[in-house]
Amino acid sequence: MLMDRHGRTVSYLRLSVTDRCNLRCLYCRPAEAISFIPHERVLSYEEMIEIVAAAQELGVHKVRLTGGEPFARKDFVPFVARLHARFPKLDLRITTNATMLAGRMPELRDAGVRTVNISLDTLSPHTFAQITGVDAHRVVLAAIEEALASGIRVKINAVALRGINDTELPAFVDFARTYGVDVRFIEFMPIGYQCRWTEENFWPAEEIVAAFHAMEILRPETNTEPHSGPARMYRIIGSQGRLGVISAVSHHFCASCNRLRVTCEGRLRTCLFSDEEYDVAGVLRRPDYQRTQLLELFQRANAAKPLGYELLAARKRTNVCQRVMTTIGG
Ligand code: 5AD
Ligand code: SF4
Repeated sequence: MLMDRHGRTVSYLRLSVTDRCNLRCLYCRPAEAISFIPHERVLSYEEMIEIVAAAQELGVHKVRLTGGEPFARKDFVPFVARLHARFPKLDLRITTNATMLAGRMPELRDAGVRTVNISLDTLSPHTFAQITGVDAHRVVLAAIEEALASGIRVKINAVALRGINDTELPAFVDFARTYGVDVRFIEFMPIGYQCRWTEENFWPAEEIVAAFHAMEILRPETNTEPHSGPARMYRIIGSQGRLGVISAVSHHFCASCNRLRVTCEGRLRTCLFSDEEYDVAGVLRRPDYQRTQLLELFQRANAAKPLGYELLAARKRTNVCQRVMTTIGG
């Protein structure tokens, strides 16, 4: 088991499979154009399978595949199928922008995918293009409908952006009620160099929760599922749908943090807010590689896992770390 000096154990790994993405979400990328990481530096699928095997030995039972956009990587779905076949007990999840999902639901279901987390920050096509730089709102909505029709569960992630989507709570209530899905608003985190986070565009969770309480149709959920993670959820009365909030910045849940992250270049990050990285790819590519070397690296890294809120509180400039989200994957 992986235990750190704050007594936290790890059960969840987030693995970024690519930094490439067909969207340019303003909260995710620096303003300037960024170059993609060359293919040879990105982890191979075989290397990722070895990482998952090692993580599982250390107590990880949930893995989320992220990007960039995971479906932008060639042969991503066959990779998911391989992971599922090799680790049948693993709780395997995917976070996607859903722009490349059309027609792929049967394949996804066969690969063992039960739930997808879809990034959708707005219900307005115009605002969607403003946030992502691409006119793809219709495509995402169609993918959501297609997934639900094929029996794949959908959870929506929306980054909370003041002045951009802060008038849309009622529209999201209608949406969540119509489709019977969870919509979680995530506080905009000041991550990555040239990050566009400001005090003005930060919409704090506290205000979102106050707005939820003002809506008669919402009731706070009391018994959240085990491993429900850091979201605070509100049930839409008489519906399957829920709205929720993840206070990633203002209310730290570092004390119960159970996760590690591996970037697409094979760097282990023990905390989203820390640029301390451990060279997993370097270990995997040693000529004398043995799994014990990777297990040792994970153990050494995790032992020094910081409390992210301390880093957030200590930051001088607006961004808490340099690394951009497209390589970390959220
Ligand atoms: N703050 C909060 N959430 C972010 N995401 C990406 N960048 C940020 C940020 N700066 C989230 C998006 C996306 C997921 C991959 O990561 O919600 O769904
Ligand atoms: Fe791409 Fe997701 Fe970043 Fe948007 S949030 S640019 S969809 S990786």
